[in-house]
Amino acid sequence: MTTERQTLRKFLLQEQEKSGIGQDMMLLLEDIATSCRIIAHQIRNGPFLDILGTTETSNVQGETQKQLDVIANDVFLSHCSNCARVAALVSEEIDEVIWLKDAPKKGDYLVYFDPLDGSSNLNVNLSVGSIFSVVELEDDLAELSNEAVLIKGAKQICAGYSLYGPSTSLVFSTGQGVNGFTHKIGSGEFLLTFPDMKLPEETEEFAINASRFRSWDAPIRRYVEECIDGEDGVRGKSFNMRWTASMVAEVHRILTRGGVFLYPKDSANAHMGGKLRLLYEANPMGFIVEQAGGRASTGTERILDVQPTGHHQRISVVLGCKAEVEVIESYFADERG
Ligand code: AHG
Ligand code: MN
Ligand code: MN
Repeated sequence: MTTERQTLRKFLLQEQEKSGIGQDMMLLLEDIATSCRIIAHQIRNGPFLDILGTTETSNVQGETQKQLDVIANDVFLSHCSNCARVAALVSEEIDEVIWLKDAPKKGDYLVYFDPLDGSSNLNVNLSVGSIFSVVELEDDLAELSNEAVLIKGAKQICAGYSLYGPSTSLVFSTGQGVNGFTHKIGSGEFLLTFPDMKLPEETEEFAINASRFRSWDAPIRRYVEECIDGEDGVRGKSFNMRWTASMVAEVHRILTRGGVFLYPKDSANAHMGGKLRLLYEANPMGFIVEQAGGRASTGTERILDVQPTGHHQRISVVLGCKAEVEVIESYFADERG
């Protein structure tokens, strides 16, 4: 039996009528969807194209770039530049903000993206993804500066990700809930497969890189130890654990069956402010998780309320089912006394 599924184009046209997302946002989302289709294709053919290895170059974060980090970045840059309303692009892989307009106006878009997330998974054939976020300029800009893109995540008008797993998913929100699409191989289309994705309030599954245990702050140690204690401990229930080393895959699992994901600031990454980047990892994923009824926190404050201080800034991340994130926040509050 086959079910007639809505295409991305049809969904966007309906959204335009229902919630008034503009024509430019529709075009931008279609360009992003095209970018993700191209990247998925490159990844699947990676071993034949000999592009799974590393390059000789490092990005601004000092991380060695994979060939596919560079390819995915080029794909996003060229497609996201099509929309006449995009004033600037901010990529994990590019040091400076890329300005496409000399005199950006109120209402123009800033697009932030992590072209390939979890790229250490590439040569072991595990899931990777792309993350994107869109903010509208609130005023005309008198001058072009890196500071002009330092806007709180609460101002995002659209955010999402594509997951290159056994199938290719495109999940996004324009502020009216979260919808998930799957690329139907051979049709060229993303079809609506996961309408109105919602997180359960509670969960019994957590995700953290436990090899960093010795570097964690006390509230994170307390939380994980109590999860591991299971039914006999203070939580009184058994927890399961997962770690995929790709935030996109973790968030997609959490949106699908619940859970909590932690990449906290710890004593080994504190000098950088944490591991994950605020503008193109934590903010877009925080927006998606909140739109699905969950919570996204640094442990001490809502991620979307953090005033960015740098366009490659890193941040502590705890996100997922609301009640579980609140437990972790309460442990940080206990620590502060
Ligand atoms: P990126 O590949 O864009 O640099 O991001 C990888 C991030 C994130 O997706 C993942 O959760 C985390 O790094 C994995 O970190 P570990 O290597 O500590 O597992
Ligand atoms: Mn990433
Ligand atoms: Mn990346």
